[in-house]
Amino acid sequence: MIHPVIMAGGTGSRLWPLSRQLNPKQFLKLTDDQLSMLQLTVARLDGMESSDPLLICNEDHRFLAAEQMRQSGYRDARIILEPCGRNTAPAIALAALQLLKNRGDSEDPLMLVLAADHLIKDNAAFQAGIRKAMPLAQQGKLVTFGIVPGHAETGYGYIQQGPALADSGFQVNRFVEKPDQQTAEGYLASGDYLWNSGMFLFGARTYLQELQKHRPDILTVCQAALDDASEDLHFTRVNERVFAECPEDSIDYAVMEKTDNAAVVSLDAGWSDIGSWSALWEVSDKDLNGNCFSGDVIAHNTQSTLVRADNRLVATVGVKDLVIIETKDALLVAHKDQVQDVKKVVEAIKSDG
Ligand code: GDD
Ligand code: MG
Repeated sequence: MIHPVIMAGGTGSRLWPLSRQLNPKQFLKLTDDQLSMLQLTVARLDGMESSDPLLICNEDHRFLAAEQMRQSGYRDARIILEPCGRNTAPAIALAALQLLKNRGDSEDPLMLVLAADHLIKDNAAFQAGIRKAMPLAQQGKLVTFGIVPGHAETGYGYIQQGPALADSGFQVNRFVEKPDQQTAEGYLASGDYLWNSGMFLFGARTYLQELQKHRPDILTVCQAALDDASEDLHFTRVNERVFAECPEDSIDYAVMEKTDNAAVVSLDAGWSDIGSWSALWEVSDKDLNGNCFSGDVIAHNTQSTLVRADNRLVATVGVKDLVIIETKDALLVAHKDQVQDVKKVVEAIKSDG
């Protein structure tokens, strides 16, 4: 039996102005008319032998999260609430500790850690990949799912495959999180590396043991913050004062780069991380000019452009490679090659107070 854990505490600032502090991208319908990114993540589990998903997100989004889980048929799913974001290493530790509550020392429940900002086009291949990974995780490996890289992306982790293991996985030789451009280009050219998909399968106890080895400071705080959590309905509220002291780090830096106990199973399931507007353009259906429009849009001599017009008519003339996102109170016009810097706009808004 697998225990899905969905991490939904990110800010999604590169998808401003649609993604907002009070309504970040994982709760938005970005790639589907009916379902949010979180709900698509949940739907991906349909037909698998798994428990109700355990969700971990920011306290501010508790009603949004609970309502979306209810709509997806998981009215009673447990939701861990973080008073502040400390990135994914602590979030996964809290989820692991929660899963181990009231279990014997010999149990090591398998957690399937999923991000809430992915698009996966081939669900059967996704589920087959998980089944393939199960025996490795049961043997005590931290299993990651590797994607054949399409370009020298600096926003992902890279995995160098080592020797083959039984059950169709590979030992991880080396894990490098978010390398610089030149390094990423070298990895791509070598053909030796896979992208880290950001999804993991491992025993809850196995993860905590690795965290204890490499970042005991994080584990100590998470343990104390969950010991002092309060529970109401299906929410588990982590102790605010204690968790505020938690160091911030992602699982990728805190554990995956350091452990020698990782395995990788390759996944060819039409995976993408909808991290930026250009990523959304990439995966969207486009017209013959490579444009992707939604809402009221008139375009003349326009190519490879993403327009989302939610309130007003948007017209484009003689432009190429743009992203134009129109919302009630803000308008973004960006070059498709520079959409990573949209987060700088959000930083500027924040620092203006
Ligand atoms: N609960 C919680 N708390 N969730 C969080 C937090 C947090 O503090 N921070 C991030 N998340 C959630 C996000 O909402 C997202 O669903 C997931 O964790 C991953 O976080 P991202 O911030 O999107 O990570 P990333 O995309 O930069 O990098 C990760 O994913 C890449 C592939 O998508 C890494 O694992 C990379 O190695 C990987 O290549
Ligand atoms: Mg991401």
